[in-house]
Amino acid sequence: MIHHLIFFTIIFLFSHSVQPTTFRIVNRCRRTVWPGLLSGANSAQLPTTGFSLTPGKSVTIQIPRSWSGRVWGRTFCAHHTSTNFSCLTGDCGSLKLECSGNGAAPPATLAEFTLNGDQGLDFYDVSLVDGYNLPMLVLPRGGTSGGCSATGCLIELNGACPRVLRVGVEEVRGIVACKSACEAFGDPRFCCSEAYSTPDTCGPSVYSEFFKHACPRAYSYAYDDKTSTYTCAGANYDIVFCPPPYTSTKLLGARKDGAPLPLVNKSTMYVASHHPNAAALSGCRITQSAAGWPHSSGAT
Ligand SMILES: *[C@@H]1O[C@H](CO)[C@@H](O)[C@H](O)[C@H]1NC(C)=O
Ligand SMILES: *[C@@H]1O[C@H](CO)[C@@H](O)[C@H](O)[C@H]1NC(C)=O
Repeated sequence: MIHHLIFFTIIFLFSHSVQPTTFRIVNRCRRTVWPGLLSGANSAQLPTTGFSLTPGKSVTIQIPRSWSGRVWGRTFCAHHTSTNFSCLTGDCGSLKLECSGNGAAPPATLAEFTLNGDQGLDFYDVSLVDGYNLPMLVLPRGGTSGGCSATGCLIELNGACPRVLRVGVEEVRGIVACKSACEAFGDPRFCCSEAYSTPDTCGPSVYSEFFKHACPRAYSYAYDDKTSTYTCAGANYDIVFCPPPYTSTKLLGARKDGAPLPLVNKSTMYVASHHPNAAALSGCRITQSAAGWPHSSGAT
């Protein structure tokens, strides 16, 4: 009996505390992405907090078992001078490749994690609460319990971004990001702040609906929890920038568990892909290909 207890205790410790999680960060965009990583207040610093990822490349990082924090992609980065590395979107203000404890300047699509939380579950989401800059997919692999559904915002939204939320000049680099209404207008109703700081007083807006319709599983405003938080235990995670369409189609077919919402809203995708800017200005594969159309049909 006691031997069994010891045996199970060892197994328990091994599976829940010792074994780290891995994040495989993949760039499927047509341009280089500079991922940034930020640990939460009570989490260990990661071995890397920022690096460059050229198209088609991936980097695997060991993540401590109870880590919480966020991952995002920076775009249009350069060493402007020897002491000034900065990015047009998602910049972390460190002036270096590594973010070293700084977060992303909005707007930026964020993948958020709390690993090994309540009941040993990992909690994860993709958030557009701070706006959007890149399509992102979070895909758990090898999970042992929990819904373990994929989440993300798989659509190129910059071209379809409402005019008042746009970042970038069409004639220069195109629209490079799409602000949240909170950032654009600073209105407490959009920010869920002041008199609107509870789930009952802060609801969706026409602007948050724009994001939610395109990306039904992503957080579109601060209290969008019910359809936006996912759980899994014992998984490793793929974090993919500009996920290719065949991934999403496969997932849509394969994952029914705990994910009532589609990963991609095909009707929105159709609308977005016919926007005049969507194809010409995207740094990533265009939305048309997500509907099953050829890859080569648009952006270069
Ligand atoms: C770094 O370079 C960028 C782009 O030229 C510029 O906007 C920014 O102000 C510079 N930052 C510093 C601290 O020099
Ligand atoms: C998909 O988009 C359409 C058009 O914006 C919207 O009416 C519908 O509610 C969306 N579906 C989901 C599941 O978000």
